Amino acid sequence: MRQIVLHGGVGSSDELNGLLDKYASYSINYGGPLDAVVAAVKYMEDDLNFNAGTGSVMRLDGSIQMDASVMIDENFGSVINIEFVKNPVQVAREVMETSPHVMLCGDGATKFAMEKGHPHYDPSTDRARKRLEDSRVVATKDSRFLYPGIQSVDTVGAVANFDGKIAAALSTGGSSPMMRGRVGDTPIPGSGILVKDGFGIAATGIGEEIIRRQLSYDLYCKRDRLEEEWKLIAENSQFSLGVVGFNREKSFVLANKSMAHGYAKA
Ligand code: GLY
Repeated sequence: MRQIVLHGGVGSSDELNGLLDKYASYSINYGGPLDAVVAAVKYMEDDLNFNAGTGSVMRLDGSIQMDASVMIDENFGSVINIEFVKNPVQVAREVMETSPHVMLCGDGATKFAMEKGHPHYDPSTDRARKRLEDSRVVATKDSRFLYPGIQSVDTVGAVANFDGKIAAALSTGGSSPMMRGRVGDTPIPGSGILVKDGFGIAATGIGEEIIRRQLSYDLYCKRDRLEEEWKLIAENSQFSLGVVGFNREKSFVLANKSMAHGYAKA
């Protein structure tokens, strides 16, 4: 059986579930699970409803730096703070499949993408500029508490399970407001993403909190009591958090606030 589950970021509206079901049903027809999750994330990167690719939020300096990752059992690729590409998730896949490395960051990641033939693309939008203006007010009050109170919608993710073979992918413009150079959980295996031993997970939420918790690895370790453990984590957190994935054949969608999600099987 082929299955795929997507999220549009914690904080995104459930009204987008129908759209994500549609993206899931398109993506499931791609070759393998990695093809499917990359296709699904690309649909969301190209859709202004979501904070990734063309819908990315801006950093405090007005720049857009994006993170993305892909993972399969025993392989991983990510790009960190990449700029001027349309589909960071595709570059993350190329890092995994065509480079000797697993992570590339900053201008090295952008240069790698250009060398791979990705055209120069500016994802800045008026909506991102407006949102940055709105968030500056909060950011200047107390830089240690940039995140609580912000209605942040962040990250898109997908996990596919094709006859027990699992792949996951994530992409984000980050958790606004944030400094240039800040790195969230999306490109870090064990934090925002994990595929291991029949378990696959793609997280969303405030990256700093997800990294501190090593959320994906923590849930993998507790997968025999996944829902109960999630309740303990989510109910005790002041931060927005969400995950989708597969625990063997069973899909899961867990979030402590609204989170658009989609699912398809074939
Ligand atoms: N979860 C995405 C980020 O914090 O960057």
